[in-house]
Parts: sequence; structure tokens; C-alpha cells
Amino acid sequence: MKKTVRAHTNIALIKYWGKRDEELILPMNSSLSLTLDAFYTDTSVRFDETKTEDEFYLNDVQQTGSSLKKVQVILDLVRQQSGISHKAVVESQNHVPTAAGLASSASGMAALAGAASAAAGLELSRKDLSRLARRGSGSASRSVYGGFVEWQKGTNDLDSHAVPVDDADWDIGMLFILLNKKEKSVSSREGMKRTVETSPFYPSWVESTEQDLIQMKDAIQNRDFDTIGKLTERSALKMHATTLGAVEPFTYWEPDSLVAMELVRTLRSEGFHCYFTMDAGPNVKVLCRMSEAKELQRHLASRFGEDHVLLSGIGEGLKELS
Ligand code: DP6
Repeated sequence: MKKTVRAHTNIALIKYWGKRDEELILPMNSSLSLTLDAFYTDTSVRFDETKTEDEFYLNDVQQTGSSLKKVQVILDLVRQQSGISHKAVVESQNHVPTAAGLASSASGMAALAGAASAAAGLELSRKDLSRLARRGSGSASRSVYGGFVEWQKGTNDLDSHAVPVDDADWDIGMLFILLNKKEKSVSSREGMKRTVETSPFYPSWVESTEQDLIQMKDAIQNRDFDTIGKLTERSALKMHATTLGAVEPFTYWEPDSLVAMELVRTLRSEGFHCYFTMDAGPNVKVLCRMSEAKELQRHLASRFGEDHVLLSGIGEGLKELS
């Protein structure tokens, strides 16, 4: 049986940064994200008794090495749970603009968890899909749901999963300022590990993030956009500050990242409701009011170029396509 599932990417407003268990992918802190509709992955899986090895095709190109290994983590878990021993054929199409340089592991692993479990005949709950996606990539646990989503760090494998917080269907959008599409020099996996192990700032990150998350959920409940935005910027800046204290120190910022952040601040002082965030790369994302997004996009594009500023609305959770 071949199953195809779509998952959208998500961007964290309160970041996940650091694991307490690397194999199970249990995080040090809970996080909260927004699922976006512009970027997504469609993945088909079938278990095939005629195959002697797992095969993974990404945008029609067969993958080997670490990319295949990451996929096999999920396939092995599904085989364990279903009792199926056949190898699998996995075909993924990433609908992320080629110049984007945006992480696709969140949508990729979530779509894979959905398609592999369905192809094996498992009827997993959303909670168990989130737990399964988490094993591929922590942020993928959140792409199971649409809108605002919290990944509760939990205490163990069973209770570390995402929960929906709010559908975000109230004048919210996100702009992506694409500054650089090069492979990141320090992957998020490696970067967060180094930070946990060596940065003296790390304990403060974990401690203060708990408070930020409580305030963020309050702000979402009250639909208090500016408080959501301020907390979003604060979480990103704190996460990136921890990397400067690591041994060896590193940063994902590039000169243009600072230019973009400064421009967002300027536009805010001119009356726009806009707040930046950044992940494990130089691109800057801007949380904004959808009603102001087109105008903001024009301002940002006049500095960074039209092809470099993309707009997204709110995305939905995992969806079985066929
Ligand atoms: C900065 O989910 O890519 O985007 O669990 O090691 O696969 P692994 O890491 P990943 O890390 C995402 C880090 C982040 C913040 C976030 O999405 O919360």
C-alpha cells in the first residue's frame, strides 16, 4: 500500500535549542511554533518485498549517506511497531523555493512519519505521529498540527510531543528574507549540542525560556500580537546569544542578518507590526500582520530584492493526500 502525506514547515517563536536525550530527541525546553502554508513536503512511502535496501528519493534524486540514515530512523521505528520487515521506497518532493536555503527537516520528517505509518497500516493518533516525527527531527514534532503549536518537553518518550494551541486564524503572516542559500556550516543538531555542552549561558536559556513560554501562551490566548512579537524576538536573540559562549564559539548571523533585523526595527518604529526571528542560518523571518504583509514585503524587497522576500500565511497540520 502506497501512502502520500503532506506536512508544512513550522517556524519556532519560542525556540527549541538543546537536547537532554539525543537518541530519543527529548528537548531541554518546551517550544512553540507557527505552522506555515508556503513551504511543505509531500512524501510517499510503500513497503516493497522485492527490495533489498531502503530507497529514498528527494526531488527525484536518490539519496545516500546521512540523509538516507535519518529517513531510516523513522522507517525502523515504523517496522518495529507494525511488525513489517520489508524495505521501503520513500519519495519526497520539497516545495521550498530552490533559493530559499530554508530548513526542510521539520516538514520532511513529519510527512515521512505520516506516510510511513499509514503505509504500514498503523493508525496512529496525532500525539503518536508527533512522537514519531520527533525521532526524526525535534522540530518536526510540531508540524503535525496547524497554527500555533507547543512541543511539550515532557518527561520521557511517551509524553514529549506537540499539542495544538490556537489556529492562528487572525491576521497573522510571516515574511522570509532569504539572505544566503549556502549549507549552514554548523548544523542545528551540532550547534545545539555544542551549546549545551560548553556555553556558560546555556542554563540561563533553559531557565528563562520556561517563563517566556508561559507569557507567550497568555499572549496568544489574548490575541496580543505585540506581546507575541516581543517574546518572539527575545527568544531568538537569547538562543543566538548562547552560541557566542560556546567552545568553539559560533554564530549563524551574517552582516545582512543584522541589516535585516535593523530594518524590521525601523519599520516597526514607523508603525508596522513586525518582529524578527532567526534559526540555525542567516535568513531572517518576520512575524507580521497579514493585513500589512504586502506593504512590508515591498519595503523589505526594496532593500533585499524581490526574489528574496517571500510571504506565507498560516499552514494546517499533517494531511493524507492519497
Ligand atoms: C533553531 O529540529 O532541526 O530551528 O532535533 O537535531 O533534528 P534536530 O534539530 P532541529 O532543530 C531546530 C532548531 C531551531 C529552533 C526550532 O525550530 O525550535
